[in-house]
Amino acid sequence: MEKIVELKGVTKRISGKTIVDGLTFAVRPGEVFGFLGPNGAGKTTTIRMMVGLISMTEGEIVIAGHSVKREFEQAMRQVGAIVENPEFYGFMTGYQNLLHYARMYPDIPGERIDEVVALVHLENRIHDKVKTYSLGMRQRLGVAQAILHRPSVLVLDEPTNGLDPEGIRELRDYLRHLAVAEGLAVIVSSHLLSEMELMCDRVAIIQNGRLLDVRSFKERPGEAELVDVCFEVDMPGEASERLQQLREAAGELRDGGGGVLEIGEIRTEGSGSMIVALPNRREAIARVNALLVEGGLQVSGIRTLTKTLEDQFLEVTRGNRIV
Ligand SMILES: Nc1ncnc2c1ncn2[C@@H]1O[C@H](COP(=O)(O)OP(=O)(O)OP(=O)(O)O)[C@@H](O)[C@H]1O
Ligand SMILES: [Mg+2]
Repeated sequence: MEKIVELKGVTKRISGKTIVDGLTFAVRPGEVFGFLGPNGAGKTTTIRMMVGLISMTEGEIVIAGHSVKREFEQAMRQVGAIVENPEFYGFMTGYQNLLHYARMYPDIPGERIDEVVALVHLENRIHDKVKTYSLGMRQRLGVAQAILHRPSVLVLDEPTNGLDPEGIRELRDYLRHLAVAEGLAVIVSSHLLSEMELMCDRVAIIQNGRLLDVRSFKERPGEAELVDVCFEVDMPGEASERLQQLREAAGELRDGGGGVLEIGEIRTEGSGSMIVALPNRREAIARVNALLVEGGLQVSGIRTLTKTLEDQFLEVTRGNRIV
């Protein structure tokens, strides 16, 4: 996997309290990556470490191959960010603000300003004074400013805050466009799963400073991964015993597609269900069904029980207490 940002065991302690606890994950170029967690989870703290606003207590962040600790300047050259509200001069136009900012860098050509303005779709208002801008327009200007120097990573903390549904939709569209057009990795944080689902390719779920999971919205679970499959059978106890015996006796069971049939955990539920962890392949499920039927059991239903991201996130937020 290609990585543009890598966190390795990133930890932050402030006055003895662990706020971010051993975060390890990586972000790929060209993806929109979400940082999802309830209030107080540690999203802003992690982002502040990524963009170099605060130091890490332990661990390492690598951006485009540069360690934030050891090669701070090279790493930061690859980062564009809006963490706090960007400050603009209200009496100047958006364009003048960008020009002013561009002068702080040695090598931003004039065309780049027009390019970023087009990327965030601010062409129609860029020559108006910033004090006449709506919140969404200011944010676009902030993003334009953040990507002027062609970073590899754009980091936005809670970018949907305060935007109306239309503004959120537009933000989503232009972030996606940026990721594709500039090959940028875009990292956004939010406490709302519904927004992340629409905006991101993958999300890291965090709670109490810990990483619970990284989930993809695009990919199905890999074939190697075992998923829980529920078989409704007349005699679950016997069904489970038969599978266990077969598993032990057969050594290598084959599924109908010629692969090895790996059978994971087997458990029974109530008087009519057996849940088996199986490879996420149709052949594996069909083979177990055949094994049960051959053993004289009646199978009346089969369901795959994959926990949705929503289930998982609700478990997290329900358990959350603000202390
Ligand atoms: N400078 C600090 N000193 C002490 N505690 C802090 C400091 N900064 C953050 N915290 C604590 O760390 C925890 C995580 O805060 P953080 O702002 O990173 O959460 P967040 O996920 O961004 O939350 P939100 O969704 O509310 O923005 C909170 O409990 C917060 O009170
Ligand atoms: Mg925050």
